[in-house]
Amino acid sequence: MKALILVGGFGTRLRPLTFSKPKPLVDFANRPMIMHQIEALAKVGVKEIVLAVNYQPKTMVDAMHEVEELYKVKIHFSIESEPLGTAGPLALARDILAKDDSPFFVLNSDVICEFPFEELLNFHKEHGCEGTLMTTPVEDPTKYGVIVQKEGSCAIDRFVEKPKEFVGNQINAGIYIFNPKMLDRIEPKPTSIEKDVFPFMAKAGQLHAMPLAGFWADVGQPKDFLSGTALYLESLHHHQPDALKKAEDIVGHVMAHPSAKIGKNCKIGPNVVLGPNTVIGDGVRISNAVIMDGSSVRDNACVHDSIIGWASSVGRWGRLENITVLGEDVHVADEVFVNGGCVLPHKSVGANILEPRIVM
Ligand code: GDD
Ligand code: MG
Repeated sequence: MKALILVGGFGTRLRPLTFSKPKPLVDFANRPMIMHQIEALAKVGVKEIVLAVNYQPKTMVDAMHEVEELYKVKIHFSIESEPLGTAGPLALARDILAKDDSPFFVLNSDVICEFPFEELLNFHKEHGCEGTLMTTPVEDPTKYGVIVQKEGSCAIDRFVEKPKEFVGNQINAGIYIFNPKMLDRIEPKPTSIEKDVFPFMAKAGQLHAMPLAGFWADVGQPKDFLSGTALYLESLHHHQPDALKKAEDIVGHVMAHPSAKIGKNCKIGPNVVLGPNTVIGDGVRISNAVIMDGSSVRDNACVHDSIIGWASSVGRWGRLENITVLGEDVHVADEVFVNGGCVLPHKSVGANILEPRIVM
C-alpha cells in the first residue's frame, strides 16, 4: 500500500521552532511529528510514502534515510516547483499512487491522533466509493472544513471549507483514503482538495465520512501544540501507561526521556514532556509544557503553558508562562519573567518581558 503526506509550507505558525527544523521534524512527545504518522502507516502495511514538499531541506532527507531503515518503507520526495495546494501534489505523484489498483492514504502533516488506519481501510472497502475522510467534532468549526452527511448514511452531502456561517461541527480531520480513480479529478496545477475536489466528489456520492475514534489535534501552532500534547499524554495513559513517568514529584501525565534529570523538591506536571538530556534543577515547577532536547531549567524556576526549544536554558527563579516559546539556544537569565514571549533562536533574554511579543 501507498500513502502521501502533505508536507508543503514553511511552518510559519510554529515559529520560532521552525527556524531550526522543518515542521515535520519538530519533536512532538519526544519524536519528530512525522514519525508518529510514518510509524502508524508502516504498521498497517504501507510500503511506499510520498512526501509532498515545496522544498527539500537536507536535514529532512537525512532523517528520512533513518526512517526507511527503521520502518522498512520507501520514502519518495515529490518536489513542487510552485506550491500545488492540497490536491495538486496528488496528481504530481500519480505515477506512484496509481501504479496499482489498491487504495492510498493521504494525510495533512500537522494532525495527531491514534491513526486508526486499519479501521479506515476496512470502512472504505465496505462502501466501495472513491474516497473516505475521517471526521471529528470541534467547538469552533470556522477554522476547518465542515462536512454535512446525508441523513442516515455515511455519504457526505456537503463539504464547506472554513464556513462563515454555522453548518455543523463535524470537521475534516485531514486523514483520507482514496481509490486511484479519484486522481482523474485532479491536474498537477495549484488546486485545493477542500474547495475544488471534495464538493464535487460529495455531489457525485463518491465521498464518505468515518468518525475518528479518540482524540484529534492539529498541532501546527504553539497553543494547539500544547493542548495536543495534553490529549496525546491522556491517550498514552490509557493505551501505554508505562510510557509515562511515575515518581513522587510528578503530578498527572508526564513523559520524561530516560536521560532527563530531575532535581529535588520539584513539582512536574500535569501535561509535561521532558526531552532527552534535559536537566531540571531543585524546586522547579513545570506544568503544561514541553522541554526539548538538551535544555535546562535551573533551581526554583517555573515554566507553565510554554515550549522550550532545543539546547536552551531558564535561569534560577526564572518564570515562563502564557504560551511563551523559546527557539533553539535561547538563554533566559536568573529571575527573569517572560509572559507570552516568542524568542528567536540564539538569543539571551536579560530583562523581563511583561507583554506577549516577538523577541528578535
Ligand atoms: N505539498 C504541499 N503543497 N502541501 C501543502 C500545500 C502545498 O502547496 N499547502 C498546504 N499544504 C499542506 C500543509 O503542510 C498541511 O499539512 C496540509 O497541506 C493542510 O494545510 P493547512 O495549511 O494546515 O490547512 P488548514 O489546517 O488550514 O486546513 C486543513 O486541515 C484541517 C484539519 O486540520 C483542511 O484540510 C481542513 O479542511 C481541515 O479541517
Ligand atoms: Mg493545518
